[in-house]
Amino acid sequence: MQTTVFSSEQEIARTAGEIFCGFARRKPKAVFGFATGSTPLGVYSYMASEYRAGRVSFAQVKTFNLDEYCGLTKDDENSFFAFMQENLFSQTDIQAKNIHFLDGTAANYNAECRRYDAEIAAAGGLDIQLLGIGPNGHIGFNEPGKYFTEGSFKVKLSQSTIDANSVYFEGRDMPQYALTMGIGSIFRARKIILLALGEQKAQAVNEMLRGKITPRWPASILKLHDNVSIFLDEAAASLVRDIV
Ligand code: F6R
Repeated sequence: MQTTVFSSEQEIARTAGEIFCGFARRKPKAVFGFATGSTPLGVYSYMASEYRAGRVSFAQVKTFNLDEYCGLTKDDENSFFAFMQENLFSQTDIQAKNIHFLDGTAANYNAECRRYDAEIAAAGGLDIQLLGIGPNGHIGFNEPGKYFTEGSFKVKLSQSTIDANSVYFEGRDMPQYALTMGIGSIFRARKIILLALGEQKAQAVNEMLRGKITPRWPASILKLHDNVSIFLDEAAASLVRDIV
């Protein structure tokens, strides 16, 4: 893992965004794995501005998102699909036919997860996966547990995740379940970029970088991957300043 501490969120967004743009320029049919949440917003904004400036096209890239809430349709304002549509897809030339998402309204979640894993495999696997990290160390919605997960699956969200994300669900209960890529799916990405911003991520970053590899801190598995870049702001890096 290569860890870099940046002095501003904008610098992280520009650096990570430029990695995705560079991929699209060199390999127009690149396969991108995306995350939702507040952390990657600057990255998507950078990618959109590069597209608007005519410096990159995403017309042929394929995209796969990490996760989706169970029970929310694509056009639900709280769905991760709607988030991506608003913040990236509608702002660039990414083609609807190239966008892949877990369907949180599928009648058979198990079949839906197998379909998604097969689509990732058929696309040739993920060239690059963008990740945030939960305060509890989750990546995707792989919550702390007793074992590392493999392919996509239905997960019961932890209280930590519900506490962190319920702010987005004004006036309604947030879903308690989601479909998510498994740790195995994420791990097979050829390159991984994990971003962490803010003091509330400091403990998870500390466990990821310094702790032992354990499913109790799911991101700790990334230590075994040979192409991971970790981008931190000062606050997220506050407990690891002696080693990075
Ligand atoms: C989102 C995802 C999650 C988030 C994590 C951090 O698709 O899979 O792992 O990356 O919960 O969320 P934020 O960025 O909102 O702090």
